[in-house]
Amino acid sequence: MYDLIVVGGGPAGYISAERAGHGGLKTLLIEKASVGGVCLNEGCVPSKTLLHSAKIYDYAKGGEKYGVCCKEVSYDQDKVIDRKDGVVKKLVGGVKAALKANNVELLEADAHIKGKDKEGFLVEAGGQVYKAKYLLIATGSGVLVPPIPGLREGLDEGAVLTNKEILSLREIPESLVVIGGGVIGLEMASYYNSVGSKVTVVEMLEKIAGQNDEELSRILQGNLKSKGIEFILGAKVTKVDGNKVVFEKEGKEREVSGSKILLSIGRRPTTEGIGLENISVNMKRGAVVTDEQMKTNIPGVYAAGDVNGKSMLAHTAYREGEVAINNILGKKDIMRYQAVPSVIYTHPEVASVGETESTAKDKGLDFTVKKISNNYSGRYMAENERGDGITKILIDNEYDRIIGVQIIGSYASEIIYGAGLMIETELPVGDIKELVFPHPTVSEVIREALFS
Ligand code: NAI
Repeated sequence: MYDLIVVGGGPAGYISAERAGHGGLKTLLIEKASVGGVCLNEGCVPSKTLLHSAKIYDYAKGGEKYGVCCKEVSYDQDKVIDRKDGVVKKLVGGVKAALKANNVELLEADAHIKGKDKEGFLVEAGGQVYKAKYLLIATGSGVLVPPIPGLREGLDEGAVLTNKEILSLREIPESLVVIGGGVIGLEMASYYNSVGSKVTVVEMLEKIAGQNDEELSRILQGNLKSKGIEFILGAKVTKVDGNKVVFEKEGKEREVSGSKILLSIGRRPTTEGIGLENISVNMKRGAVVTDEQMKTNIPGVYAAGDVNGKSMLAHTAYREGEVAINNILGKKDIMRYQAVPSVIYTHPEVASVGETESTAKDKGLDFTVKKISNNYSGRYMAENERGDGITKILIDNEYDRIIGVQIIGSYASEIIYGAGLMIETELPVGDIKELVFPHPTVSEVIREALFS
């Protein structure tokens, strides 16, 4: 008998198992593939490893501008993939060690929830039935495959790839068609463009980078276009035929072909085949319904991470997992989403937290926008040639608090947490202006923007 069984060992699952073990709960974590989940094995971490190699390559190719002459620069995708596999392996080992250090039992098997008896929940895995007082569902999400004719066949035949296969290609495709100009599509478009593929992004909306600020999306598109990526916007993919992607734009049918096609039009919670029906958990639009304490409708059953469909980001999953465990341990804790940052790791990076101009307008908020060029930062100027980076800060006029920050440019991903802190702690703008930022750093643009 366990206190807690966690089903799924991705960011939500392994962090909550660690916290539970640390808090003294007898915990079993069941994972059918590799601990670390999509993020560590075929998402966040491998993509960042690849993008780092591409960044070095970009700098080397353009080194002359910086007074560095690299006459013959070459790229070895095989080595890059080997290095990526090595990074993933080390981190998976790290997660396993952390689980062990926190007394968590790890079972690598397919889990199936069987139901409940008087003492607790029953979960079958690897031919045995395990029992626990509490259950945490952390089964994550899978690739969304819409019913587009030819798509399923393309995936089966290998002409169409998902985030999983695209991160392990040992040969750089001559051309790549990306279906969906969201986070995965843009990061992979940026990578394969840098390493030599002819990349075309087909996006249904009139803008790339979906929920991001309009102006930042435009700057990102312009920047990537100048590097050779082609964008076809307002184009709904209607058919895949071998290596051809057929789409509808302005009422006309057109097509584009590529040696490989990437499918990146979103993900959906993994809720099938795990036996949720056996405990009658409430579902809505394919996701497990949770409250702010990550509780489901069934007492003792919690859900965290992509499976609840709320934010679909690894860093949210970590915190949701912690919130669930704190509540199990009797420490009331709630999940707040207003200061969850989001990042696109293209080159340049885009980072955002809180409201954008359009969400603030939709909510009828009274706000001021402070906008500044990142060229105000000496470090940004010292390191960047193009100089198209900007920072936008939204200030609530009534409370004089920051309600949103968007940054495009180098280091955006590392700076944004500070902005999140300012939003979450509701720090008065006057107090932020009195803070001393390290100089020269790109982060100074936040302070400077407030004086503009
Ligand atoms: P996404 O939701 O970011 O973007 C999907 C895009 O596909 C949208 O712009 C949508 O308009 C477009 N689209 C939908 N149907 C289409 C059609 N028939 N034809 C053309 N375009 C179409 O989804 P994505 O990029 O697959 O990412 C999945 C999830 O993974 C997201 O929730 C994302 O937050 C997460 N993720 C986060 C990363 C990060 O934080 N850096 C990195 C990678 C993924």
